[in-house]
Amino acid sequence: MVETRIADIAKHEGQEVIIKGWLYNKRSSGKIQFLQIRDGSGFIQGVMVKNEVGEEIFNKVKEITQESSIIVYGTVKREERAPSGFELLLKDVELVHLAPTYPIAKKEHGVDFLMDHRHLWLRSPRQVAIMRVRNTIVNAAREFFDKNGFTLIDAPILTPSACEGTTNLFETEYFDTKAYLSQSGQLYMEAAAMALGKVYCFGPTFRAEKSKTRRHLIEFWMIEPEMAYVEFEENLQVQEQFVSYIVEKVLEKNRQDLKVLDRDISKLENIKAPFPRITYDDAIKLLQEKGEDIQWGDDFGAPHETIIAESFDKPVFVTHYPTDIKAFYMKPHPQRPEVVLAADLIAPEGYGEIIGGSERIADLDLLLKRIEEHNLPKEAYQWYIDLRTYGSVPHSGFGLGLERTVAWICGLDHVRETIPFPRLLNRLYP
Ligand code: 4AD
Ligand code: MG
Repeated sequence: MVETRIADIAKHEGQEVIIKGWLYNKRSSGKIQFLQIRDGSGFIQGVMVKNEVGEEIFNKVKEITQESSIIVYGTVKREERAPSGFELLLKDVELVHLAPTYPIAKKEHGVDFLMDHRHLWLRSPRQVAIMRVRNTIVNAAREFFDKNGFTLIDAPILTPSACEGTTNLFETEYFDTKAYLSQSGQLYMEAAAMALGKVYCFGPTFRAEKSKTRRHLIEFWMIEPEMAYVEFEENLQVQEQFVSYIVEKVLEKNRQDLKVLDRDISKLENIKAPFPRITYDDAIKLLQEKGEDIQWGDDFGAPHETIIAESFDKPVFVTHYPTDIKAFYMKPHPQRPEVVLAADLIAPEGYGEIIGGSERIADLDLLLKRIEEHNLPKEAYQWYIDLRTYGSVPHSGFGLGLERTVAWICGLDHVRETIPFPRLLNRLYP
């Protein structure tokens, strides 16, 4: 007998194997019991026939409850109808721990109930599939930047200053002064780009946003590349290559998971660079033509992003936003300073903005002016200002929100399922 994981079951056709896992579900038809066994790597059906194993073993197994931990012994048999292509002819089942009645039964539960039991909900096939897709996206992101000459630089989480405006900062005591949880690693990546050329960070970021939408988390993970000597246009090209690469990898590695999630794969197969672009000016016109009450200078709400996305079947870049509604560090258009050299990438099918990016201000005087206009405390930004004093260069970067990307690729209604333990406006537990 060899120990195996369900994911590797195909290598053991005809052999006797040991699998260590949990009982996901069970049904019985008198003389046969069907056990749904999960081990983290997959699900497989085990079949136990009374006449083959004898009364004692058969009755012992009858007592095992849902989510009890078990070690099973059986022979691997090809079964075309099974999702894994195989099933187990069970010889014996060893009970490791007997679980009392499992709170998440088969019946439908409300979202609040499931969220309160997130630590258990994570075991269900759908949640497992989502976590596996998330894992692929993270690995693909690291791989993409690694292959393209970027260096991973970890940004601090406790910071003295804001990156994305001061309205949604999480404040905390830092001995005899104040610190803020990072909203973005970007400013630090700008420093690192001047040291290493092409860099990226990937870590948790925090927004004390009082928004209760299906796209907002309080704590979310962001992948933020930053590139020296890269201007606006090249920045967009990196983004479309990056997003195409991620989708390609998920299609390569997670077919079965996407099936569990009922995801329409043809929509994802279409996601290949280049991506369409629309200027903010034209996006406003498009929204007005569709009857939306929006004026030049307004920021987009979620419904606006959805309408824009509906006009395209790939992610779309909205470019050249009004300077007044964007962050202090974005470079104004040289001929049209009322707009910035920035773009948001809007995902298809109503999933909203997944990337925010821009060329950064490289000019010292202009940066000082913008810091002042935004009423930011200059002292806290002195180090950032230094980057424009010592060898300033044109540079650009962007941030991709991991959870919104997972929601889009998996086809989920809400970001709460995209992260193992979501932090929401009204939720810090578990
Ligand atoms: O557009 P944002 O705020 O951009 C930045 O933070 C830049 N400093 C990034 C950079 O240029 N290095 O955020 C970037 C992305 C958004 O497009 C979105 O995908 C995600 O981060 N995001 C959120 N995801 C979940 N919940 C929230 N509250 C989010 N806020 C932003
Ligand atoms: Mg944004």
